[in-house]
Amino acid sequence: MNVYFSISNNRKRPVGWVILAVLFAVGCEDPGQGTATNVATEITPSQREENATFDPAVLRRALTSSPLPEPPSDATNQYADDPHAAELGRSLFFDPRLSGNGEVSCATCHQPDLWFTDGLKKSKGLGTADRHAPTLVDAAHHRWFNWDGRSDSMWGHTIRPIENPLEMGGDRTMLARLVLEDLTLKNRYQAIFGAIPLSISDLPATARPGGDSDSVEAWERLAPIDQDRINRVAANIGKSLAAFQRTLQGGLSRFDRWAAVVAEGGDGGSILNASELRGLGLFFGEAECWECHSGPLLSDGEFHNIGIPVADGLPTDSGRYEGSLLVREDAFNAAGRYSDDVDGRQAILSRGVKRDPEAWGAFRTPTLRGVGRTAPYMHDGSMPDLESVLHFYSTLEGAVQLGHHQESVLTPLDLDVGEIEDLAAFLRTLTGPGPQIEALESVPEMESSSS
Ligand code: HEC
Ligand code: HEC
Repeated sequence: MNVYFSISNNRKRPVGWVILAVLFAVGCEDPGQGTATNVATEITPSQREENATFDPAVLRRALTSSPLPEPPSDATNQYADDPHAAELGRSLFFDPRLSGNGEVSCATCHQPDLWFTDGLKKSKGLGTADRHAPTLVDAAHHRWFNWDGRSDSMWGHTIRPIENPLEMGGDRTMLARLVLEDLTLKNRYQAIFGAIPLSISDLPATARPGGDSDSVEAWERLAPIDQDRINRVAANIGKSLAAFQRTLQGGLSRFDRWAAVVAEGGDGGSILNASELRGLGLFFGEAECWECHSGPLLSDGEFHNIGIPVADGLPTDSGRYEGSLLVREDAFNAAGRYSDDVDGRQAILSRGVKRDPEAWGAFRTPTLRGVGRTAPYMHDGSMPDLESVLHFYSTLEGAVQLGHHQESVLTPLDLDVGEIEDLAAFLRTLTGPGPQIEALESVPEMESSSS
């Protein structure tokens, strides 16, 4: 049976990437072994497609990258899989009252019809955010959140966009006031999380531990017990938003359907075309994308400096270097008092995070699931399409070499036009049907009680 297609060719490339020891988490195989069989030299391309097979290592990597299971459980959030919490989170996700000017919701930058991104280089809320908005679809699979991993859970992250003056410009006290003021919201909240021992008359309009001096002073005037209660409301709102975000699943992509058929011994060629299969072979073979974009999420969840070009001069975004400090100091991290698993695995990991100079300029490997829908690309949104990304990996034109301590050294892949097309075609097979958008948009009305 002619099941698989070959991507073998005569060209011998130098090993594409030299990944240093830090990458042990990927479970690397020896990159030199991937492209041994070269069965397709004397036959035409169409014959090649009919006759050849993938190298076993390539096939194994491809098949172990599918399907994506359910998101891992999150013990730090006891409401993570509570459907009532998810339903509340869904309404809050689309609610602009979470922002300081009442106009920006989570969905402003994480739009359902854009695969929960915003299509912009850098997101726009009250101002322009520092980075590009990553997708929330399948994001619950990550261990560290954001490009720099400065949050160790989805719920813990929530307070950041809400309080960021460039994003939603609100704050935690405003959030507590909103829940207390809107009786429907308050009832829904209390049915899940219990009574809120706060009275609206005791709360200033805005107050938070960081930010402008008025907010900070108002925060410092609050009794520690009230500060704690406000933080608790913010954490619970985060937990309900996270419960909602966990339901955002990309579903089976054409690549997954191919993998399912091939794993059963069937003909994958009926699902992916020849170009897509050549791209698949490159991805899991000699182009070594799998070194970092590994496993069913097509991300190793780790941080790498691939040195993407910066417009003017040297990069200023330190990425994981700063992120590692922020996650340890975060009051809402897995080890903190609002976590439901302070001695668990994630808490231990977060407590142990070290600030490593080698992490300067490193960003989390993004998932490639849904990548056909999430342009533009990279932490700064600087690459408008997949072809630009592949052109970069091919030539490393404009790549920033920090010179010292750079974790991974990339060498140009030197892809030809056809190979770039094939890789792009393959990347476009990684998008499933996505979350059910229609259901998402019928958000229940929330009553406002100004009584
Ligand atoms: C103004 C635009 C904007 C708004 C509003 C916004 N976000 Fe984001 N979101 C971003 C950007 C930009 C990032 C990446 C930040 C970074 O890495 O520095 C991000 C990252 C995230 C992540 C991390 C995803 C991952 O893969 O690690 C989550 C989760 C998230 N946002 C959820 C939310 C929620 C929930 C809300 C509403 C409370 C929200 N966002 C509001 C722009 C926004
Ligand atoms: C050394 C690890 C590593 C290797 C090898 C690697 N990538 Fe990446 N990839 C990353 C990181 C890290 C980023 C994000 C970089 C940033 O934003 O600065 C990224 C970003 C991307 C993006 C943009 C995704 C988005 O949502 O913004 C695409 C597409 C991509 N890589 C595809 C590939 C392909 C195809 C290959 C093989 C030719 C490859 N990568 C090889 C680590 C790697």
